[in-house]
Amino acid sequence: MEVNPEYAEAAKAVERAHVRCGDFFQTDWPRTLAGLEDPVLVIGNPPWVTNSAMGRLGGDNLPGKSNFQRFRGLDAITGKSNFDISESMLVHLLECLSGRRAAVAMLCKTVVARKVLRHAWSRHLQVARSSVYAIDAKQYFGASVDACLLVCLLEPGRASQDCAVYADLDERTNRSTFALRDGELVADLEAADTYGHLRGPSPLKWRSGVKHDCAGVMELRSSGKGEFENGLGETVSLEGTYLYPALKSSDLTRPRPVPSRYMLVTQRSVGQDTSRIRRDAPRTWKYLLSHADRLDARASSIYRNRPRFSVFGVGPYSFAPWKVATSGFYKRLDFRCVGPVADRPVVLDDTCYFLPCQTERDARTLAGLLNSEPARGFFGAFVFWDAKRPITAQLLSRLDLHRLAGEAGVSLPVWADPRQFTLFGV
Ligand SMILES: C[S@@+](CC[C@H](N)C(=O)[O-])C[C@H]1O[C@@H](n2cnc3c(N)ncnc32)[C@H](O)[C@@H]1O
Repeated sequence: MEVNPEYAEAAKAVERAHVRCGDFFQTDWPRTLAGLEDPVLVIGNPPWVTNSAMGRLGGDNLPGKSNFQRFRGLDAITGKSNFDISESMLVHLLECLSGRRAAVAMLCKTVVARKVLRHAWSRHLQVARSSVYAIDAKQYFGASVDACLLVCLLEPGRASQDCAVYADLDERTNRSTFALRDGELVADLEAADTYGHLRGPSPLKWRSGVKHDCAGVMELRSSGKGEFENGLGETVSLEGTYLYPALKSSDLTRPRPVPSRYMLVTQRSVGQDTSRIRRDAPRTWKYLLSHADRLDARASSIYRNRPRFSVFGVGPYSFAPWKVATSGFYKRLDFRCVGPVADRPVVLDDTCYFLPCQTERDARTLAGLLNSEPARGFFGAFVFWDAKRPITAQLLSRLDLHRLAGEAGVSLPVWADPRQFTLFGV
């Protein structure tokens, strides 16, 4: 089935094929499939675009949004309005085929395969066996995206919540298995078996860096003698009061990250009055006013009804002298110790996560634990490296550092040890 008449015509050249020009979303799949004898194989290469990209493309070969809404539970799957079209197609097919002897084999983005399986698993659809075979989408389709062939074998009365992951189509042995356990996706079952006991609530709170959404104005490089160049190429003279050496994700790839820029941090806590900058640092205030058009135009709703020139993700922790930091974007988890520069705390941007520390010793202890093999193994059990932002504060918080320290025979800093919390009234 192909919705585009031209493509459908071209496909008709294939001998023995019965090609239908039609819209997936206008097709009565329960009825179509009911007319076929078991076992049924549904094989395809559904569109790789999202509904909003499809909307932007326009064209009458595209299913209208109202069609998607017919598919129940879609919001539950995506949780947001932008979703992959193939996701709704695959979910619908699996729902129609659950309880029958059938197979569904589809090329799709790996994230789509995962969402579809998560949906099938949590709804207890009768998918007996699932596999994903990685494909080189760049080579075959010129698409820079992690993609796979998703194969689901359905059998009446059988439901497994595991999926074998193969490195490529010819691979005979799977390199890992991901699964649904206790309602959440586990990226690597073997790693979860070995390191799952380190799961806990984290005794420490992971923080993300400062968010300002205006790098051109808020990020500056020193040009010496109290002068700074901002991202718009302007040279300005600012007081040091609100400027902090800053690191971003890419800086954290280095074993010893060196701040290459400064960040203008206008508040010490979320919602703090910013008008005091006029008094404390008049040149900084003038600078902010001269870029008020850009700062006031920041689109995110978090800036609405907030003091002018507000930033987010800011609190006492942002100014802790030492931090153990990692990037949310990279395909490897490395934790770096970040210390003050010229007696100023280094701030991180919102692509980073960190644990604030008061002393270098504490930071080194925590970084040592977080970079240890058991911690890496533990995170490996839960991280899907092909995700857009594989590392999140939620993921980092799953590791019980206290237990890890106990196993490693390392003493946690007093303030980080939950046994001491009552003692210190934290
Ligand atoms: C990734 S391409 C695959 C093309 C071809 N079948 C192949 O495997 O090379 C996805 C195809 O789905 C078609 N398509 C998009 N929306 C559709 C819909 N609602 N119903 C049927 N086909 C659709 C597109 O026109 C496009 O040709």
